[in-house]
Amino acid sequence: MTDKTYENIKIEREGEVTWIVLNRPEKRNAMSPALHYDMEDALSWLATDAQTRVLILTGAGQAFCAGQDLKAYFRENENAPIERRRAGLASHHWRWEMLSTFPKPTIAMVNGYCFGGGFTQLCACDFAVASEDAIFGLSEVNWGIIPGGVVAWNVAKMLMPRHAMYYATTGKTFNGRRAEQIGLVNIAVPQELLRQETLALAADLLNINSGVLRYTKEAIRAVTDMTVEQARDYLAVKQEALAKADKEIGDKVGLKKFLDDKSYRPGLGPYSK
Ligand code: COA
Repeated sequence: MTDKTYENIKIEREGEVTWIVLNRPEKRNAMSPALHYDMEDALSWLATDAQTRVLILTGAGQAFCAGQDLKAYFRENENAPIERRRAGLASHHWRWEMLSTFPKPTIAMVNGYCFGGGFTQLCACDFAVASEDAIFGLSEVNWGIIPGGVVAWNVAKMLMPRHAMYYATTGKTFNGRRAEQIGLVNIAVPQELLRQETLALAADLLNINSGVLRYTKEAIRAVTDMTVEQARDYLAVKQEALAKADKEIGDKVGLKKFLDDKSYRPGLGPYSK
């Protein structure tokens, strides 16, 4: 089957890595309602696409994403409550619900400007690699609005409290290097190495048993909102579920390879079939 094509995003393949590229470079990849609908469709398709084992989200041209499209998303829908609600639901659906629960690992590759609402999909991705010179900004205050949707919630969770407060209230921009220091991205690299470093991370992820990876990322996300007692119980049941889902893990093949066959040392390499 040939891949789907969209007006506002591009799908690109590199083996088992699939790229989604927000593709409105002339508008710095600001998110219009039509882009939200494209993303909803693409993410529901790729979630079960057998070829996709790692998903990378990035933007065409100079921007990762300049936030919501102030014209197409806000102004043009001011007096259109039905369309506004539909776009709002789609916007939240793909950027938070679909991405943060995506069944394969997701990487945000921040190639340039990342403003306002763009933080939601950045934080929803499991990993983020940024160009050192990418420019980030919680610019909402400059428009007389607060970092709404789930931007403030995400920033408050991901950054240390002083940094979240500072950047949200001042609207001051910061670069990729600073984003790495404050925990918003995993690494920042020179622009010319961005693609290579992102693919290197993808290659590491491809090396790991995909069931283990999925259950681990789901567990890491889930336990942050639990008490320690709840987490202990949840993790025990999650491990049981993983052992049921993957026969090799259920049969403790890894243990046998380490203790009996001496053919593998998990501390020095990922568990993979
Ligand atoms: N919504 C709608 N249009 C946007 C946009 C947004 N969030 N961000 C950029 N654009 C449009 C501009 O209006 C311009 O359109 P035009 O060519 O029809 O005039 C085009 O994208 C290019 O923008 P420009 O400002 O000329 O590009 P730049 O490279 O000099 O600056 C930014 C890029 C991202 C720094 C700048 O466009 C900007 O500040 N955008 C707003 C970001 C923001 O605050 N987003 C959060 C909204 S809550």
